[in-house]
Amino acid sequence: MPISLPVAASLYDRVRRVIPPIEWPAFTDDIDAILALKRERNALILAHNYQTPEIFHCVADIVGDSLALARRAMSTEADVIVLAGVHFMAETAKLLNPDKTVLIPDLGAGCSLADSITASDVRLMRQRYPGVPVVTYVNTSAAVKAESDICCTSGNALAVVESLGAPRVIMLPDEYLAQNIAAQTKIEIIAWKGHCEVHERFTPADIRELREAHPGVTVLAHPECPPEVVAEADFSGSTAAMSDYVGKRKPSRVVLMTECSMSDNVAVDHPDVEFIRPCNLCPHMKRITLANIRVALEQNRHAVTVDAEIAGRARRAVERMLAV
Ligand code: 13P
Ligand code: SF4
Repeated sequence: MPISLPVAASLYDRVRRVIPPIEWPAFTDDIDAILALKRERNALILAHNYQTPEIFHCVADIVGDSLALARRAMSTEADVIVLAGVHFMAETAKLLNPDKTVLIPDLGAGCSLADSITASDVRLMRQRYPGVPVVTYVNTSAAVKAESDICCTSGNALAVVESLGAPRVIMLPDEYLAQNIAAQTKIEIIAWKGHCEVHERFTPADIRELREAHPGVTVLAHPECPPEVVAEADFSGSTAAMSDYVGKRKPSRVVLMTECSMSDNVAVDHPDVEFIRPCNLCPHMKRITLANIRVALEQNRHAVTVDAEIAGRARRAVERMLAV
């Protein structure tokens, strides 16, 4: 049993705007236990921007978008990495740290994009378009990454596509991200029909209704949203880019067309910004809780493993992306 130090109480001030006082006592025991376990095990918690505020603001060491989490995973001295996010993020951390223990607190934390394509689908695309380079979104399994030339995230997709010096590029598996990138480059993009189950539900009509109901609202949309939604937004970018936009431009009212916890997490640092909150929950991200992070550290589960041969090829695609 870890020695419980009562530090959680002092953390409440940070999150009081987004966690009601009545809910807070349910978190404190797990927070204290996790902070003690991290010290005991020399563990690092990487948390994606879609994690709930008690994880994001109270136990995470590194927070950010998929690109930041991959970058930071590469430069850690920790023995254990806990990925508070979805499975492909934990796999990416493992690819970059083959000798470290990487834990995902719930093996069911998947992703509709990662589930939309297999390694043999990528091989078929290569046969259909010989010689055309393949860019795969990091929201894929290691087996799919292993079949690709280079990975990308929503934060660097345009730069990655343009770095290849090719007139045509296959971009998998997110059809909408591919279309949103195609709108910004002369390079011909060949897409796949994968979609994010969270972002595909936003519509241009949602944005029009929001603008009518909340005059002056600034609309930020993730590039996994359909192109018609991105076209009606004021800005589109990765979760980190949306967060930076709010920090730098300080809109008086803003709506983030993305996963629900994102607004809570950004709102903590911007009391002067009004967040309008129509949002969609990612059921996979929401499988991660303080309780299962604690169990992950106590019982060393679930350790992520990747077949060595697949890992070698997948790592090359991720490292090539990180070099862009
Ligand atoms: P980001 O890389 O922008 O954080 O997006 C990851 C993701 O899963 C969005 O749905
Ligand atoms: Fe996957 Fe969409 Fe959830 Fe992101 S929000 S993890 S892309 S299902």
